[in-house]
Amino acid sequence: MNSTQHTDTAEKHRLSVAPMLDWTDRHYRFLARQISRRALLYTEMIHAGALVYGDAARFLETHPCEHPVALQLGGSEPDLLARAAAKAAAAGFAQINLNCGCPSPRVQKGAFGACLMRDIPLVADCLNAIADVAPDCETTVKHRIGLDRDTEYEPLAEFVGTLARQTPVRTFVVHARNAWLEGLSPKENRDIPPLRYDYVYRLKREFPELNIVINGGITTNEQIADHLHTVDGAMVGREAYHNPMLMAEWDARFYGGTAPAPNHAQVVEKMYDYAKRELAENRHTTLRHIVRHSLGLMHGLTNARVWRRMLSDAELLQDNRAELILRAWDAVSGCLKT
Ligand SMILES: Cc1cc2nc3c(=O)[nH]c(=O)nc-3n(C[C@H](O)[C@H](O)[C@H](O)COP(=O)(O)O)c2cc1C
Repeated sequence: MNSTQHTDTAEKHRLSVAPMLDWTDRHYRFLARQISRRALLYTEMIHAGALVYGDAARFLETHPCEHPVALQLGGSEPDLLARAAAKAAAAGFAQINLNCGCPSPRVQKGAFGACLMRDIPLVADCLNAIADVAPDCETTVKHRIGLDRDTEYEPLAEFVGTLARQTPVRTFVVHARNAWLEGLSPKENRDIPPLRYDYVYRLKREFPELNIVINGGITTNEQIADHLHTVDGAMVGREAYHNPMLMAEWDARFYGGTAPAPNHAQVVEKMYDYAKRELAENRHTTLRHIVRHSLGLMHGLTNARVWRRMLSDAELLQDNRAELILRAWDAVSGCLKT
């Protein structure tokens, strides 16, 4: 890869919103895309078997404005992953990412996710199988810095170095904490194992030709700016969900965009139009499916609570009418003016 190609790919990964099961569905991604035009968005993890044997159309559905979107696959059978990746590539995803970071007991039972970090040859087979069938999509991997109480750097470097040698993968998304495979819930596994950003920085120093994206515990744009001095990209998960307006600065600050940052009123308007269309066109969608991902939109405003309360009120949601979004905004913005 020459240096211009490296810069192009690095820009694609500069900022991303993490894959989050049950959270980063297409409704959340639509919301996020109204706030940042440039950030890469990820789907939730989708098991390869669900794409091959299940309702693929539902999992692959995207709104045209959402792209670029990376689809994250879970699984450890190269053939099945290849079949799933072929479907994802045909559906227009920009990137296919293999999950090697999920510690949940259910995922461990299926022998994929974080426990794959123990079997580098199998991960290489999986990534090669994906890359072979999806040459126009970038194949990437998301992983932890280690497993259990192992705090050595070398196994991490071996994981990354071997995959870089044996597969076409050039982008590594590194959640900067270990996965403890026993004794912690998935939620605890996102908080308790200590963050070690220095390991991720060291990877970038030792593998300067790779795109290294750092993830874990990032909550402000200042932290993002700091990380970007050292690594190629920053991935934000929970903060981008609970406080999506964090992303309003991203295009101008991190991509040199010149369009003004969207304000709350503009995002609400877009969400209202979207909800109206979805409710008219898609008989499976309810208003609750859409607005449950918008509860954090007013984060930091004095009356954020009014917005959250109205949009999670079962009685108000029962009517299934997009106008509830405008009513909730009126309540918040009316309060802002007084
Ligand atoms: C509700 C939830 C679901 C998640 N689901 C996934 C997933 O499907 N795939 C994955 O690789 N990571 C998943 N993660 C982990 C995030 O992608 C991310 O690595 C983690 O939250 C740390 O980043 P943060 O501190 O910015 O949230 C999930 C996290 C949350 C909070």
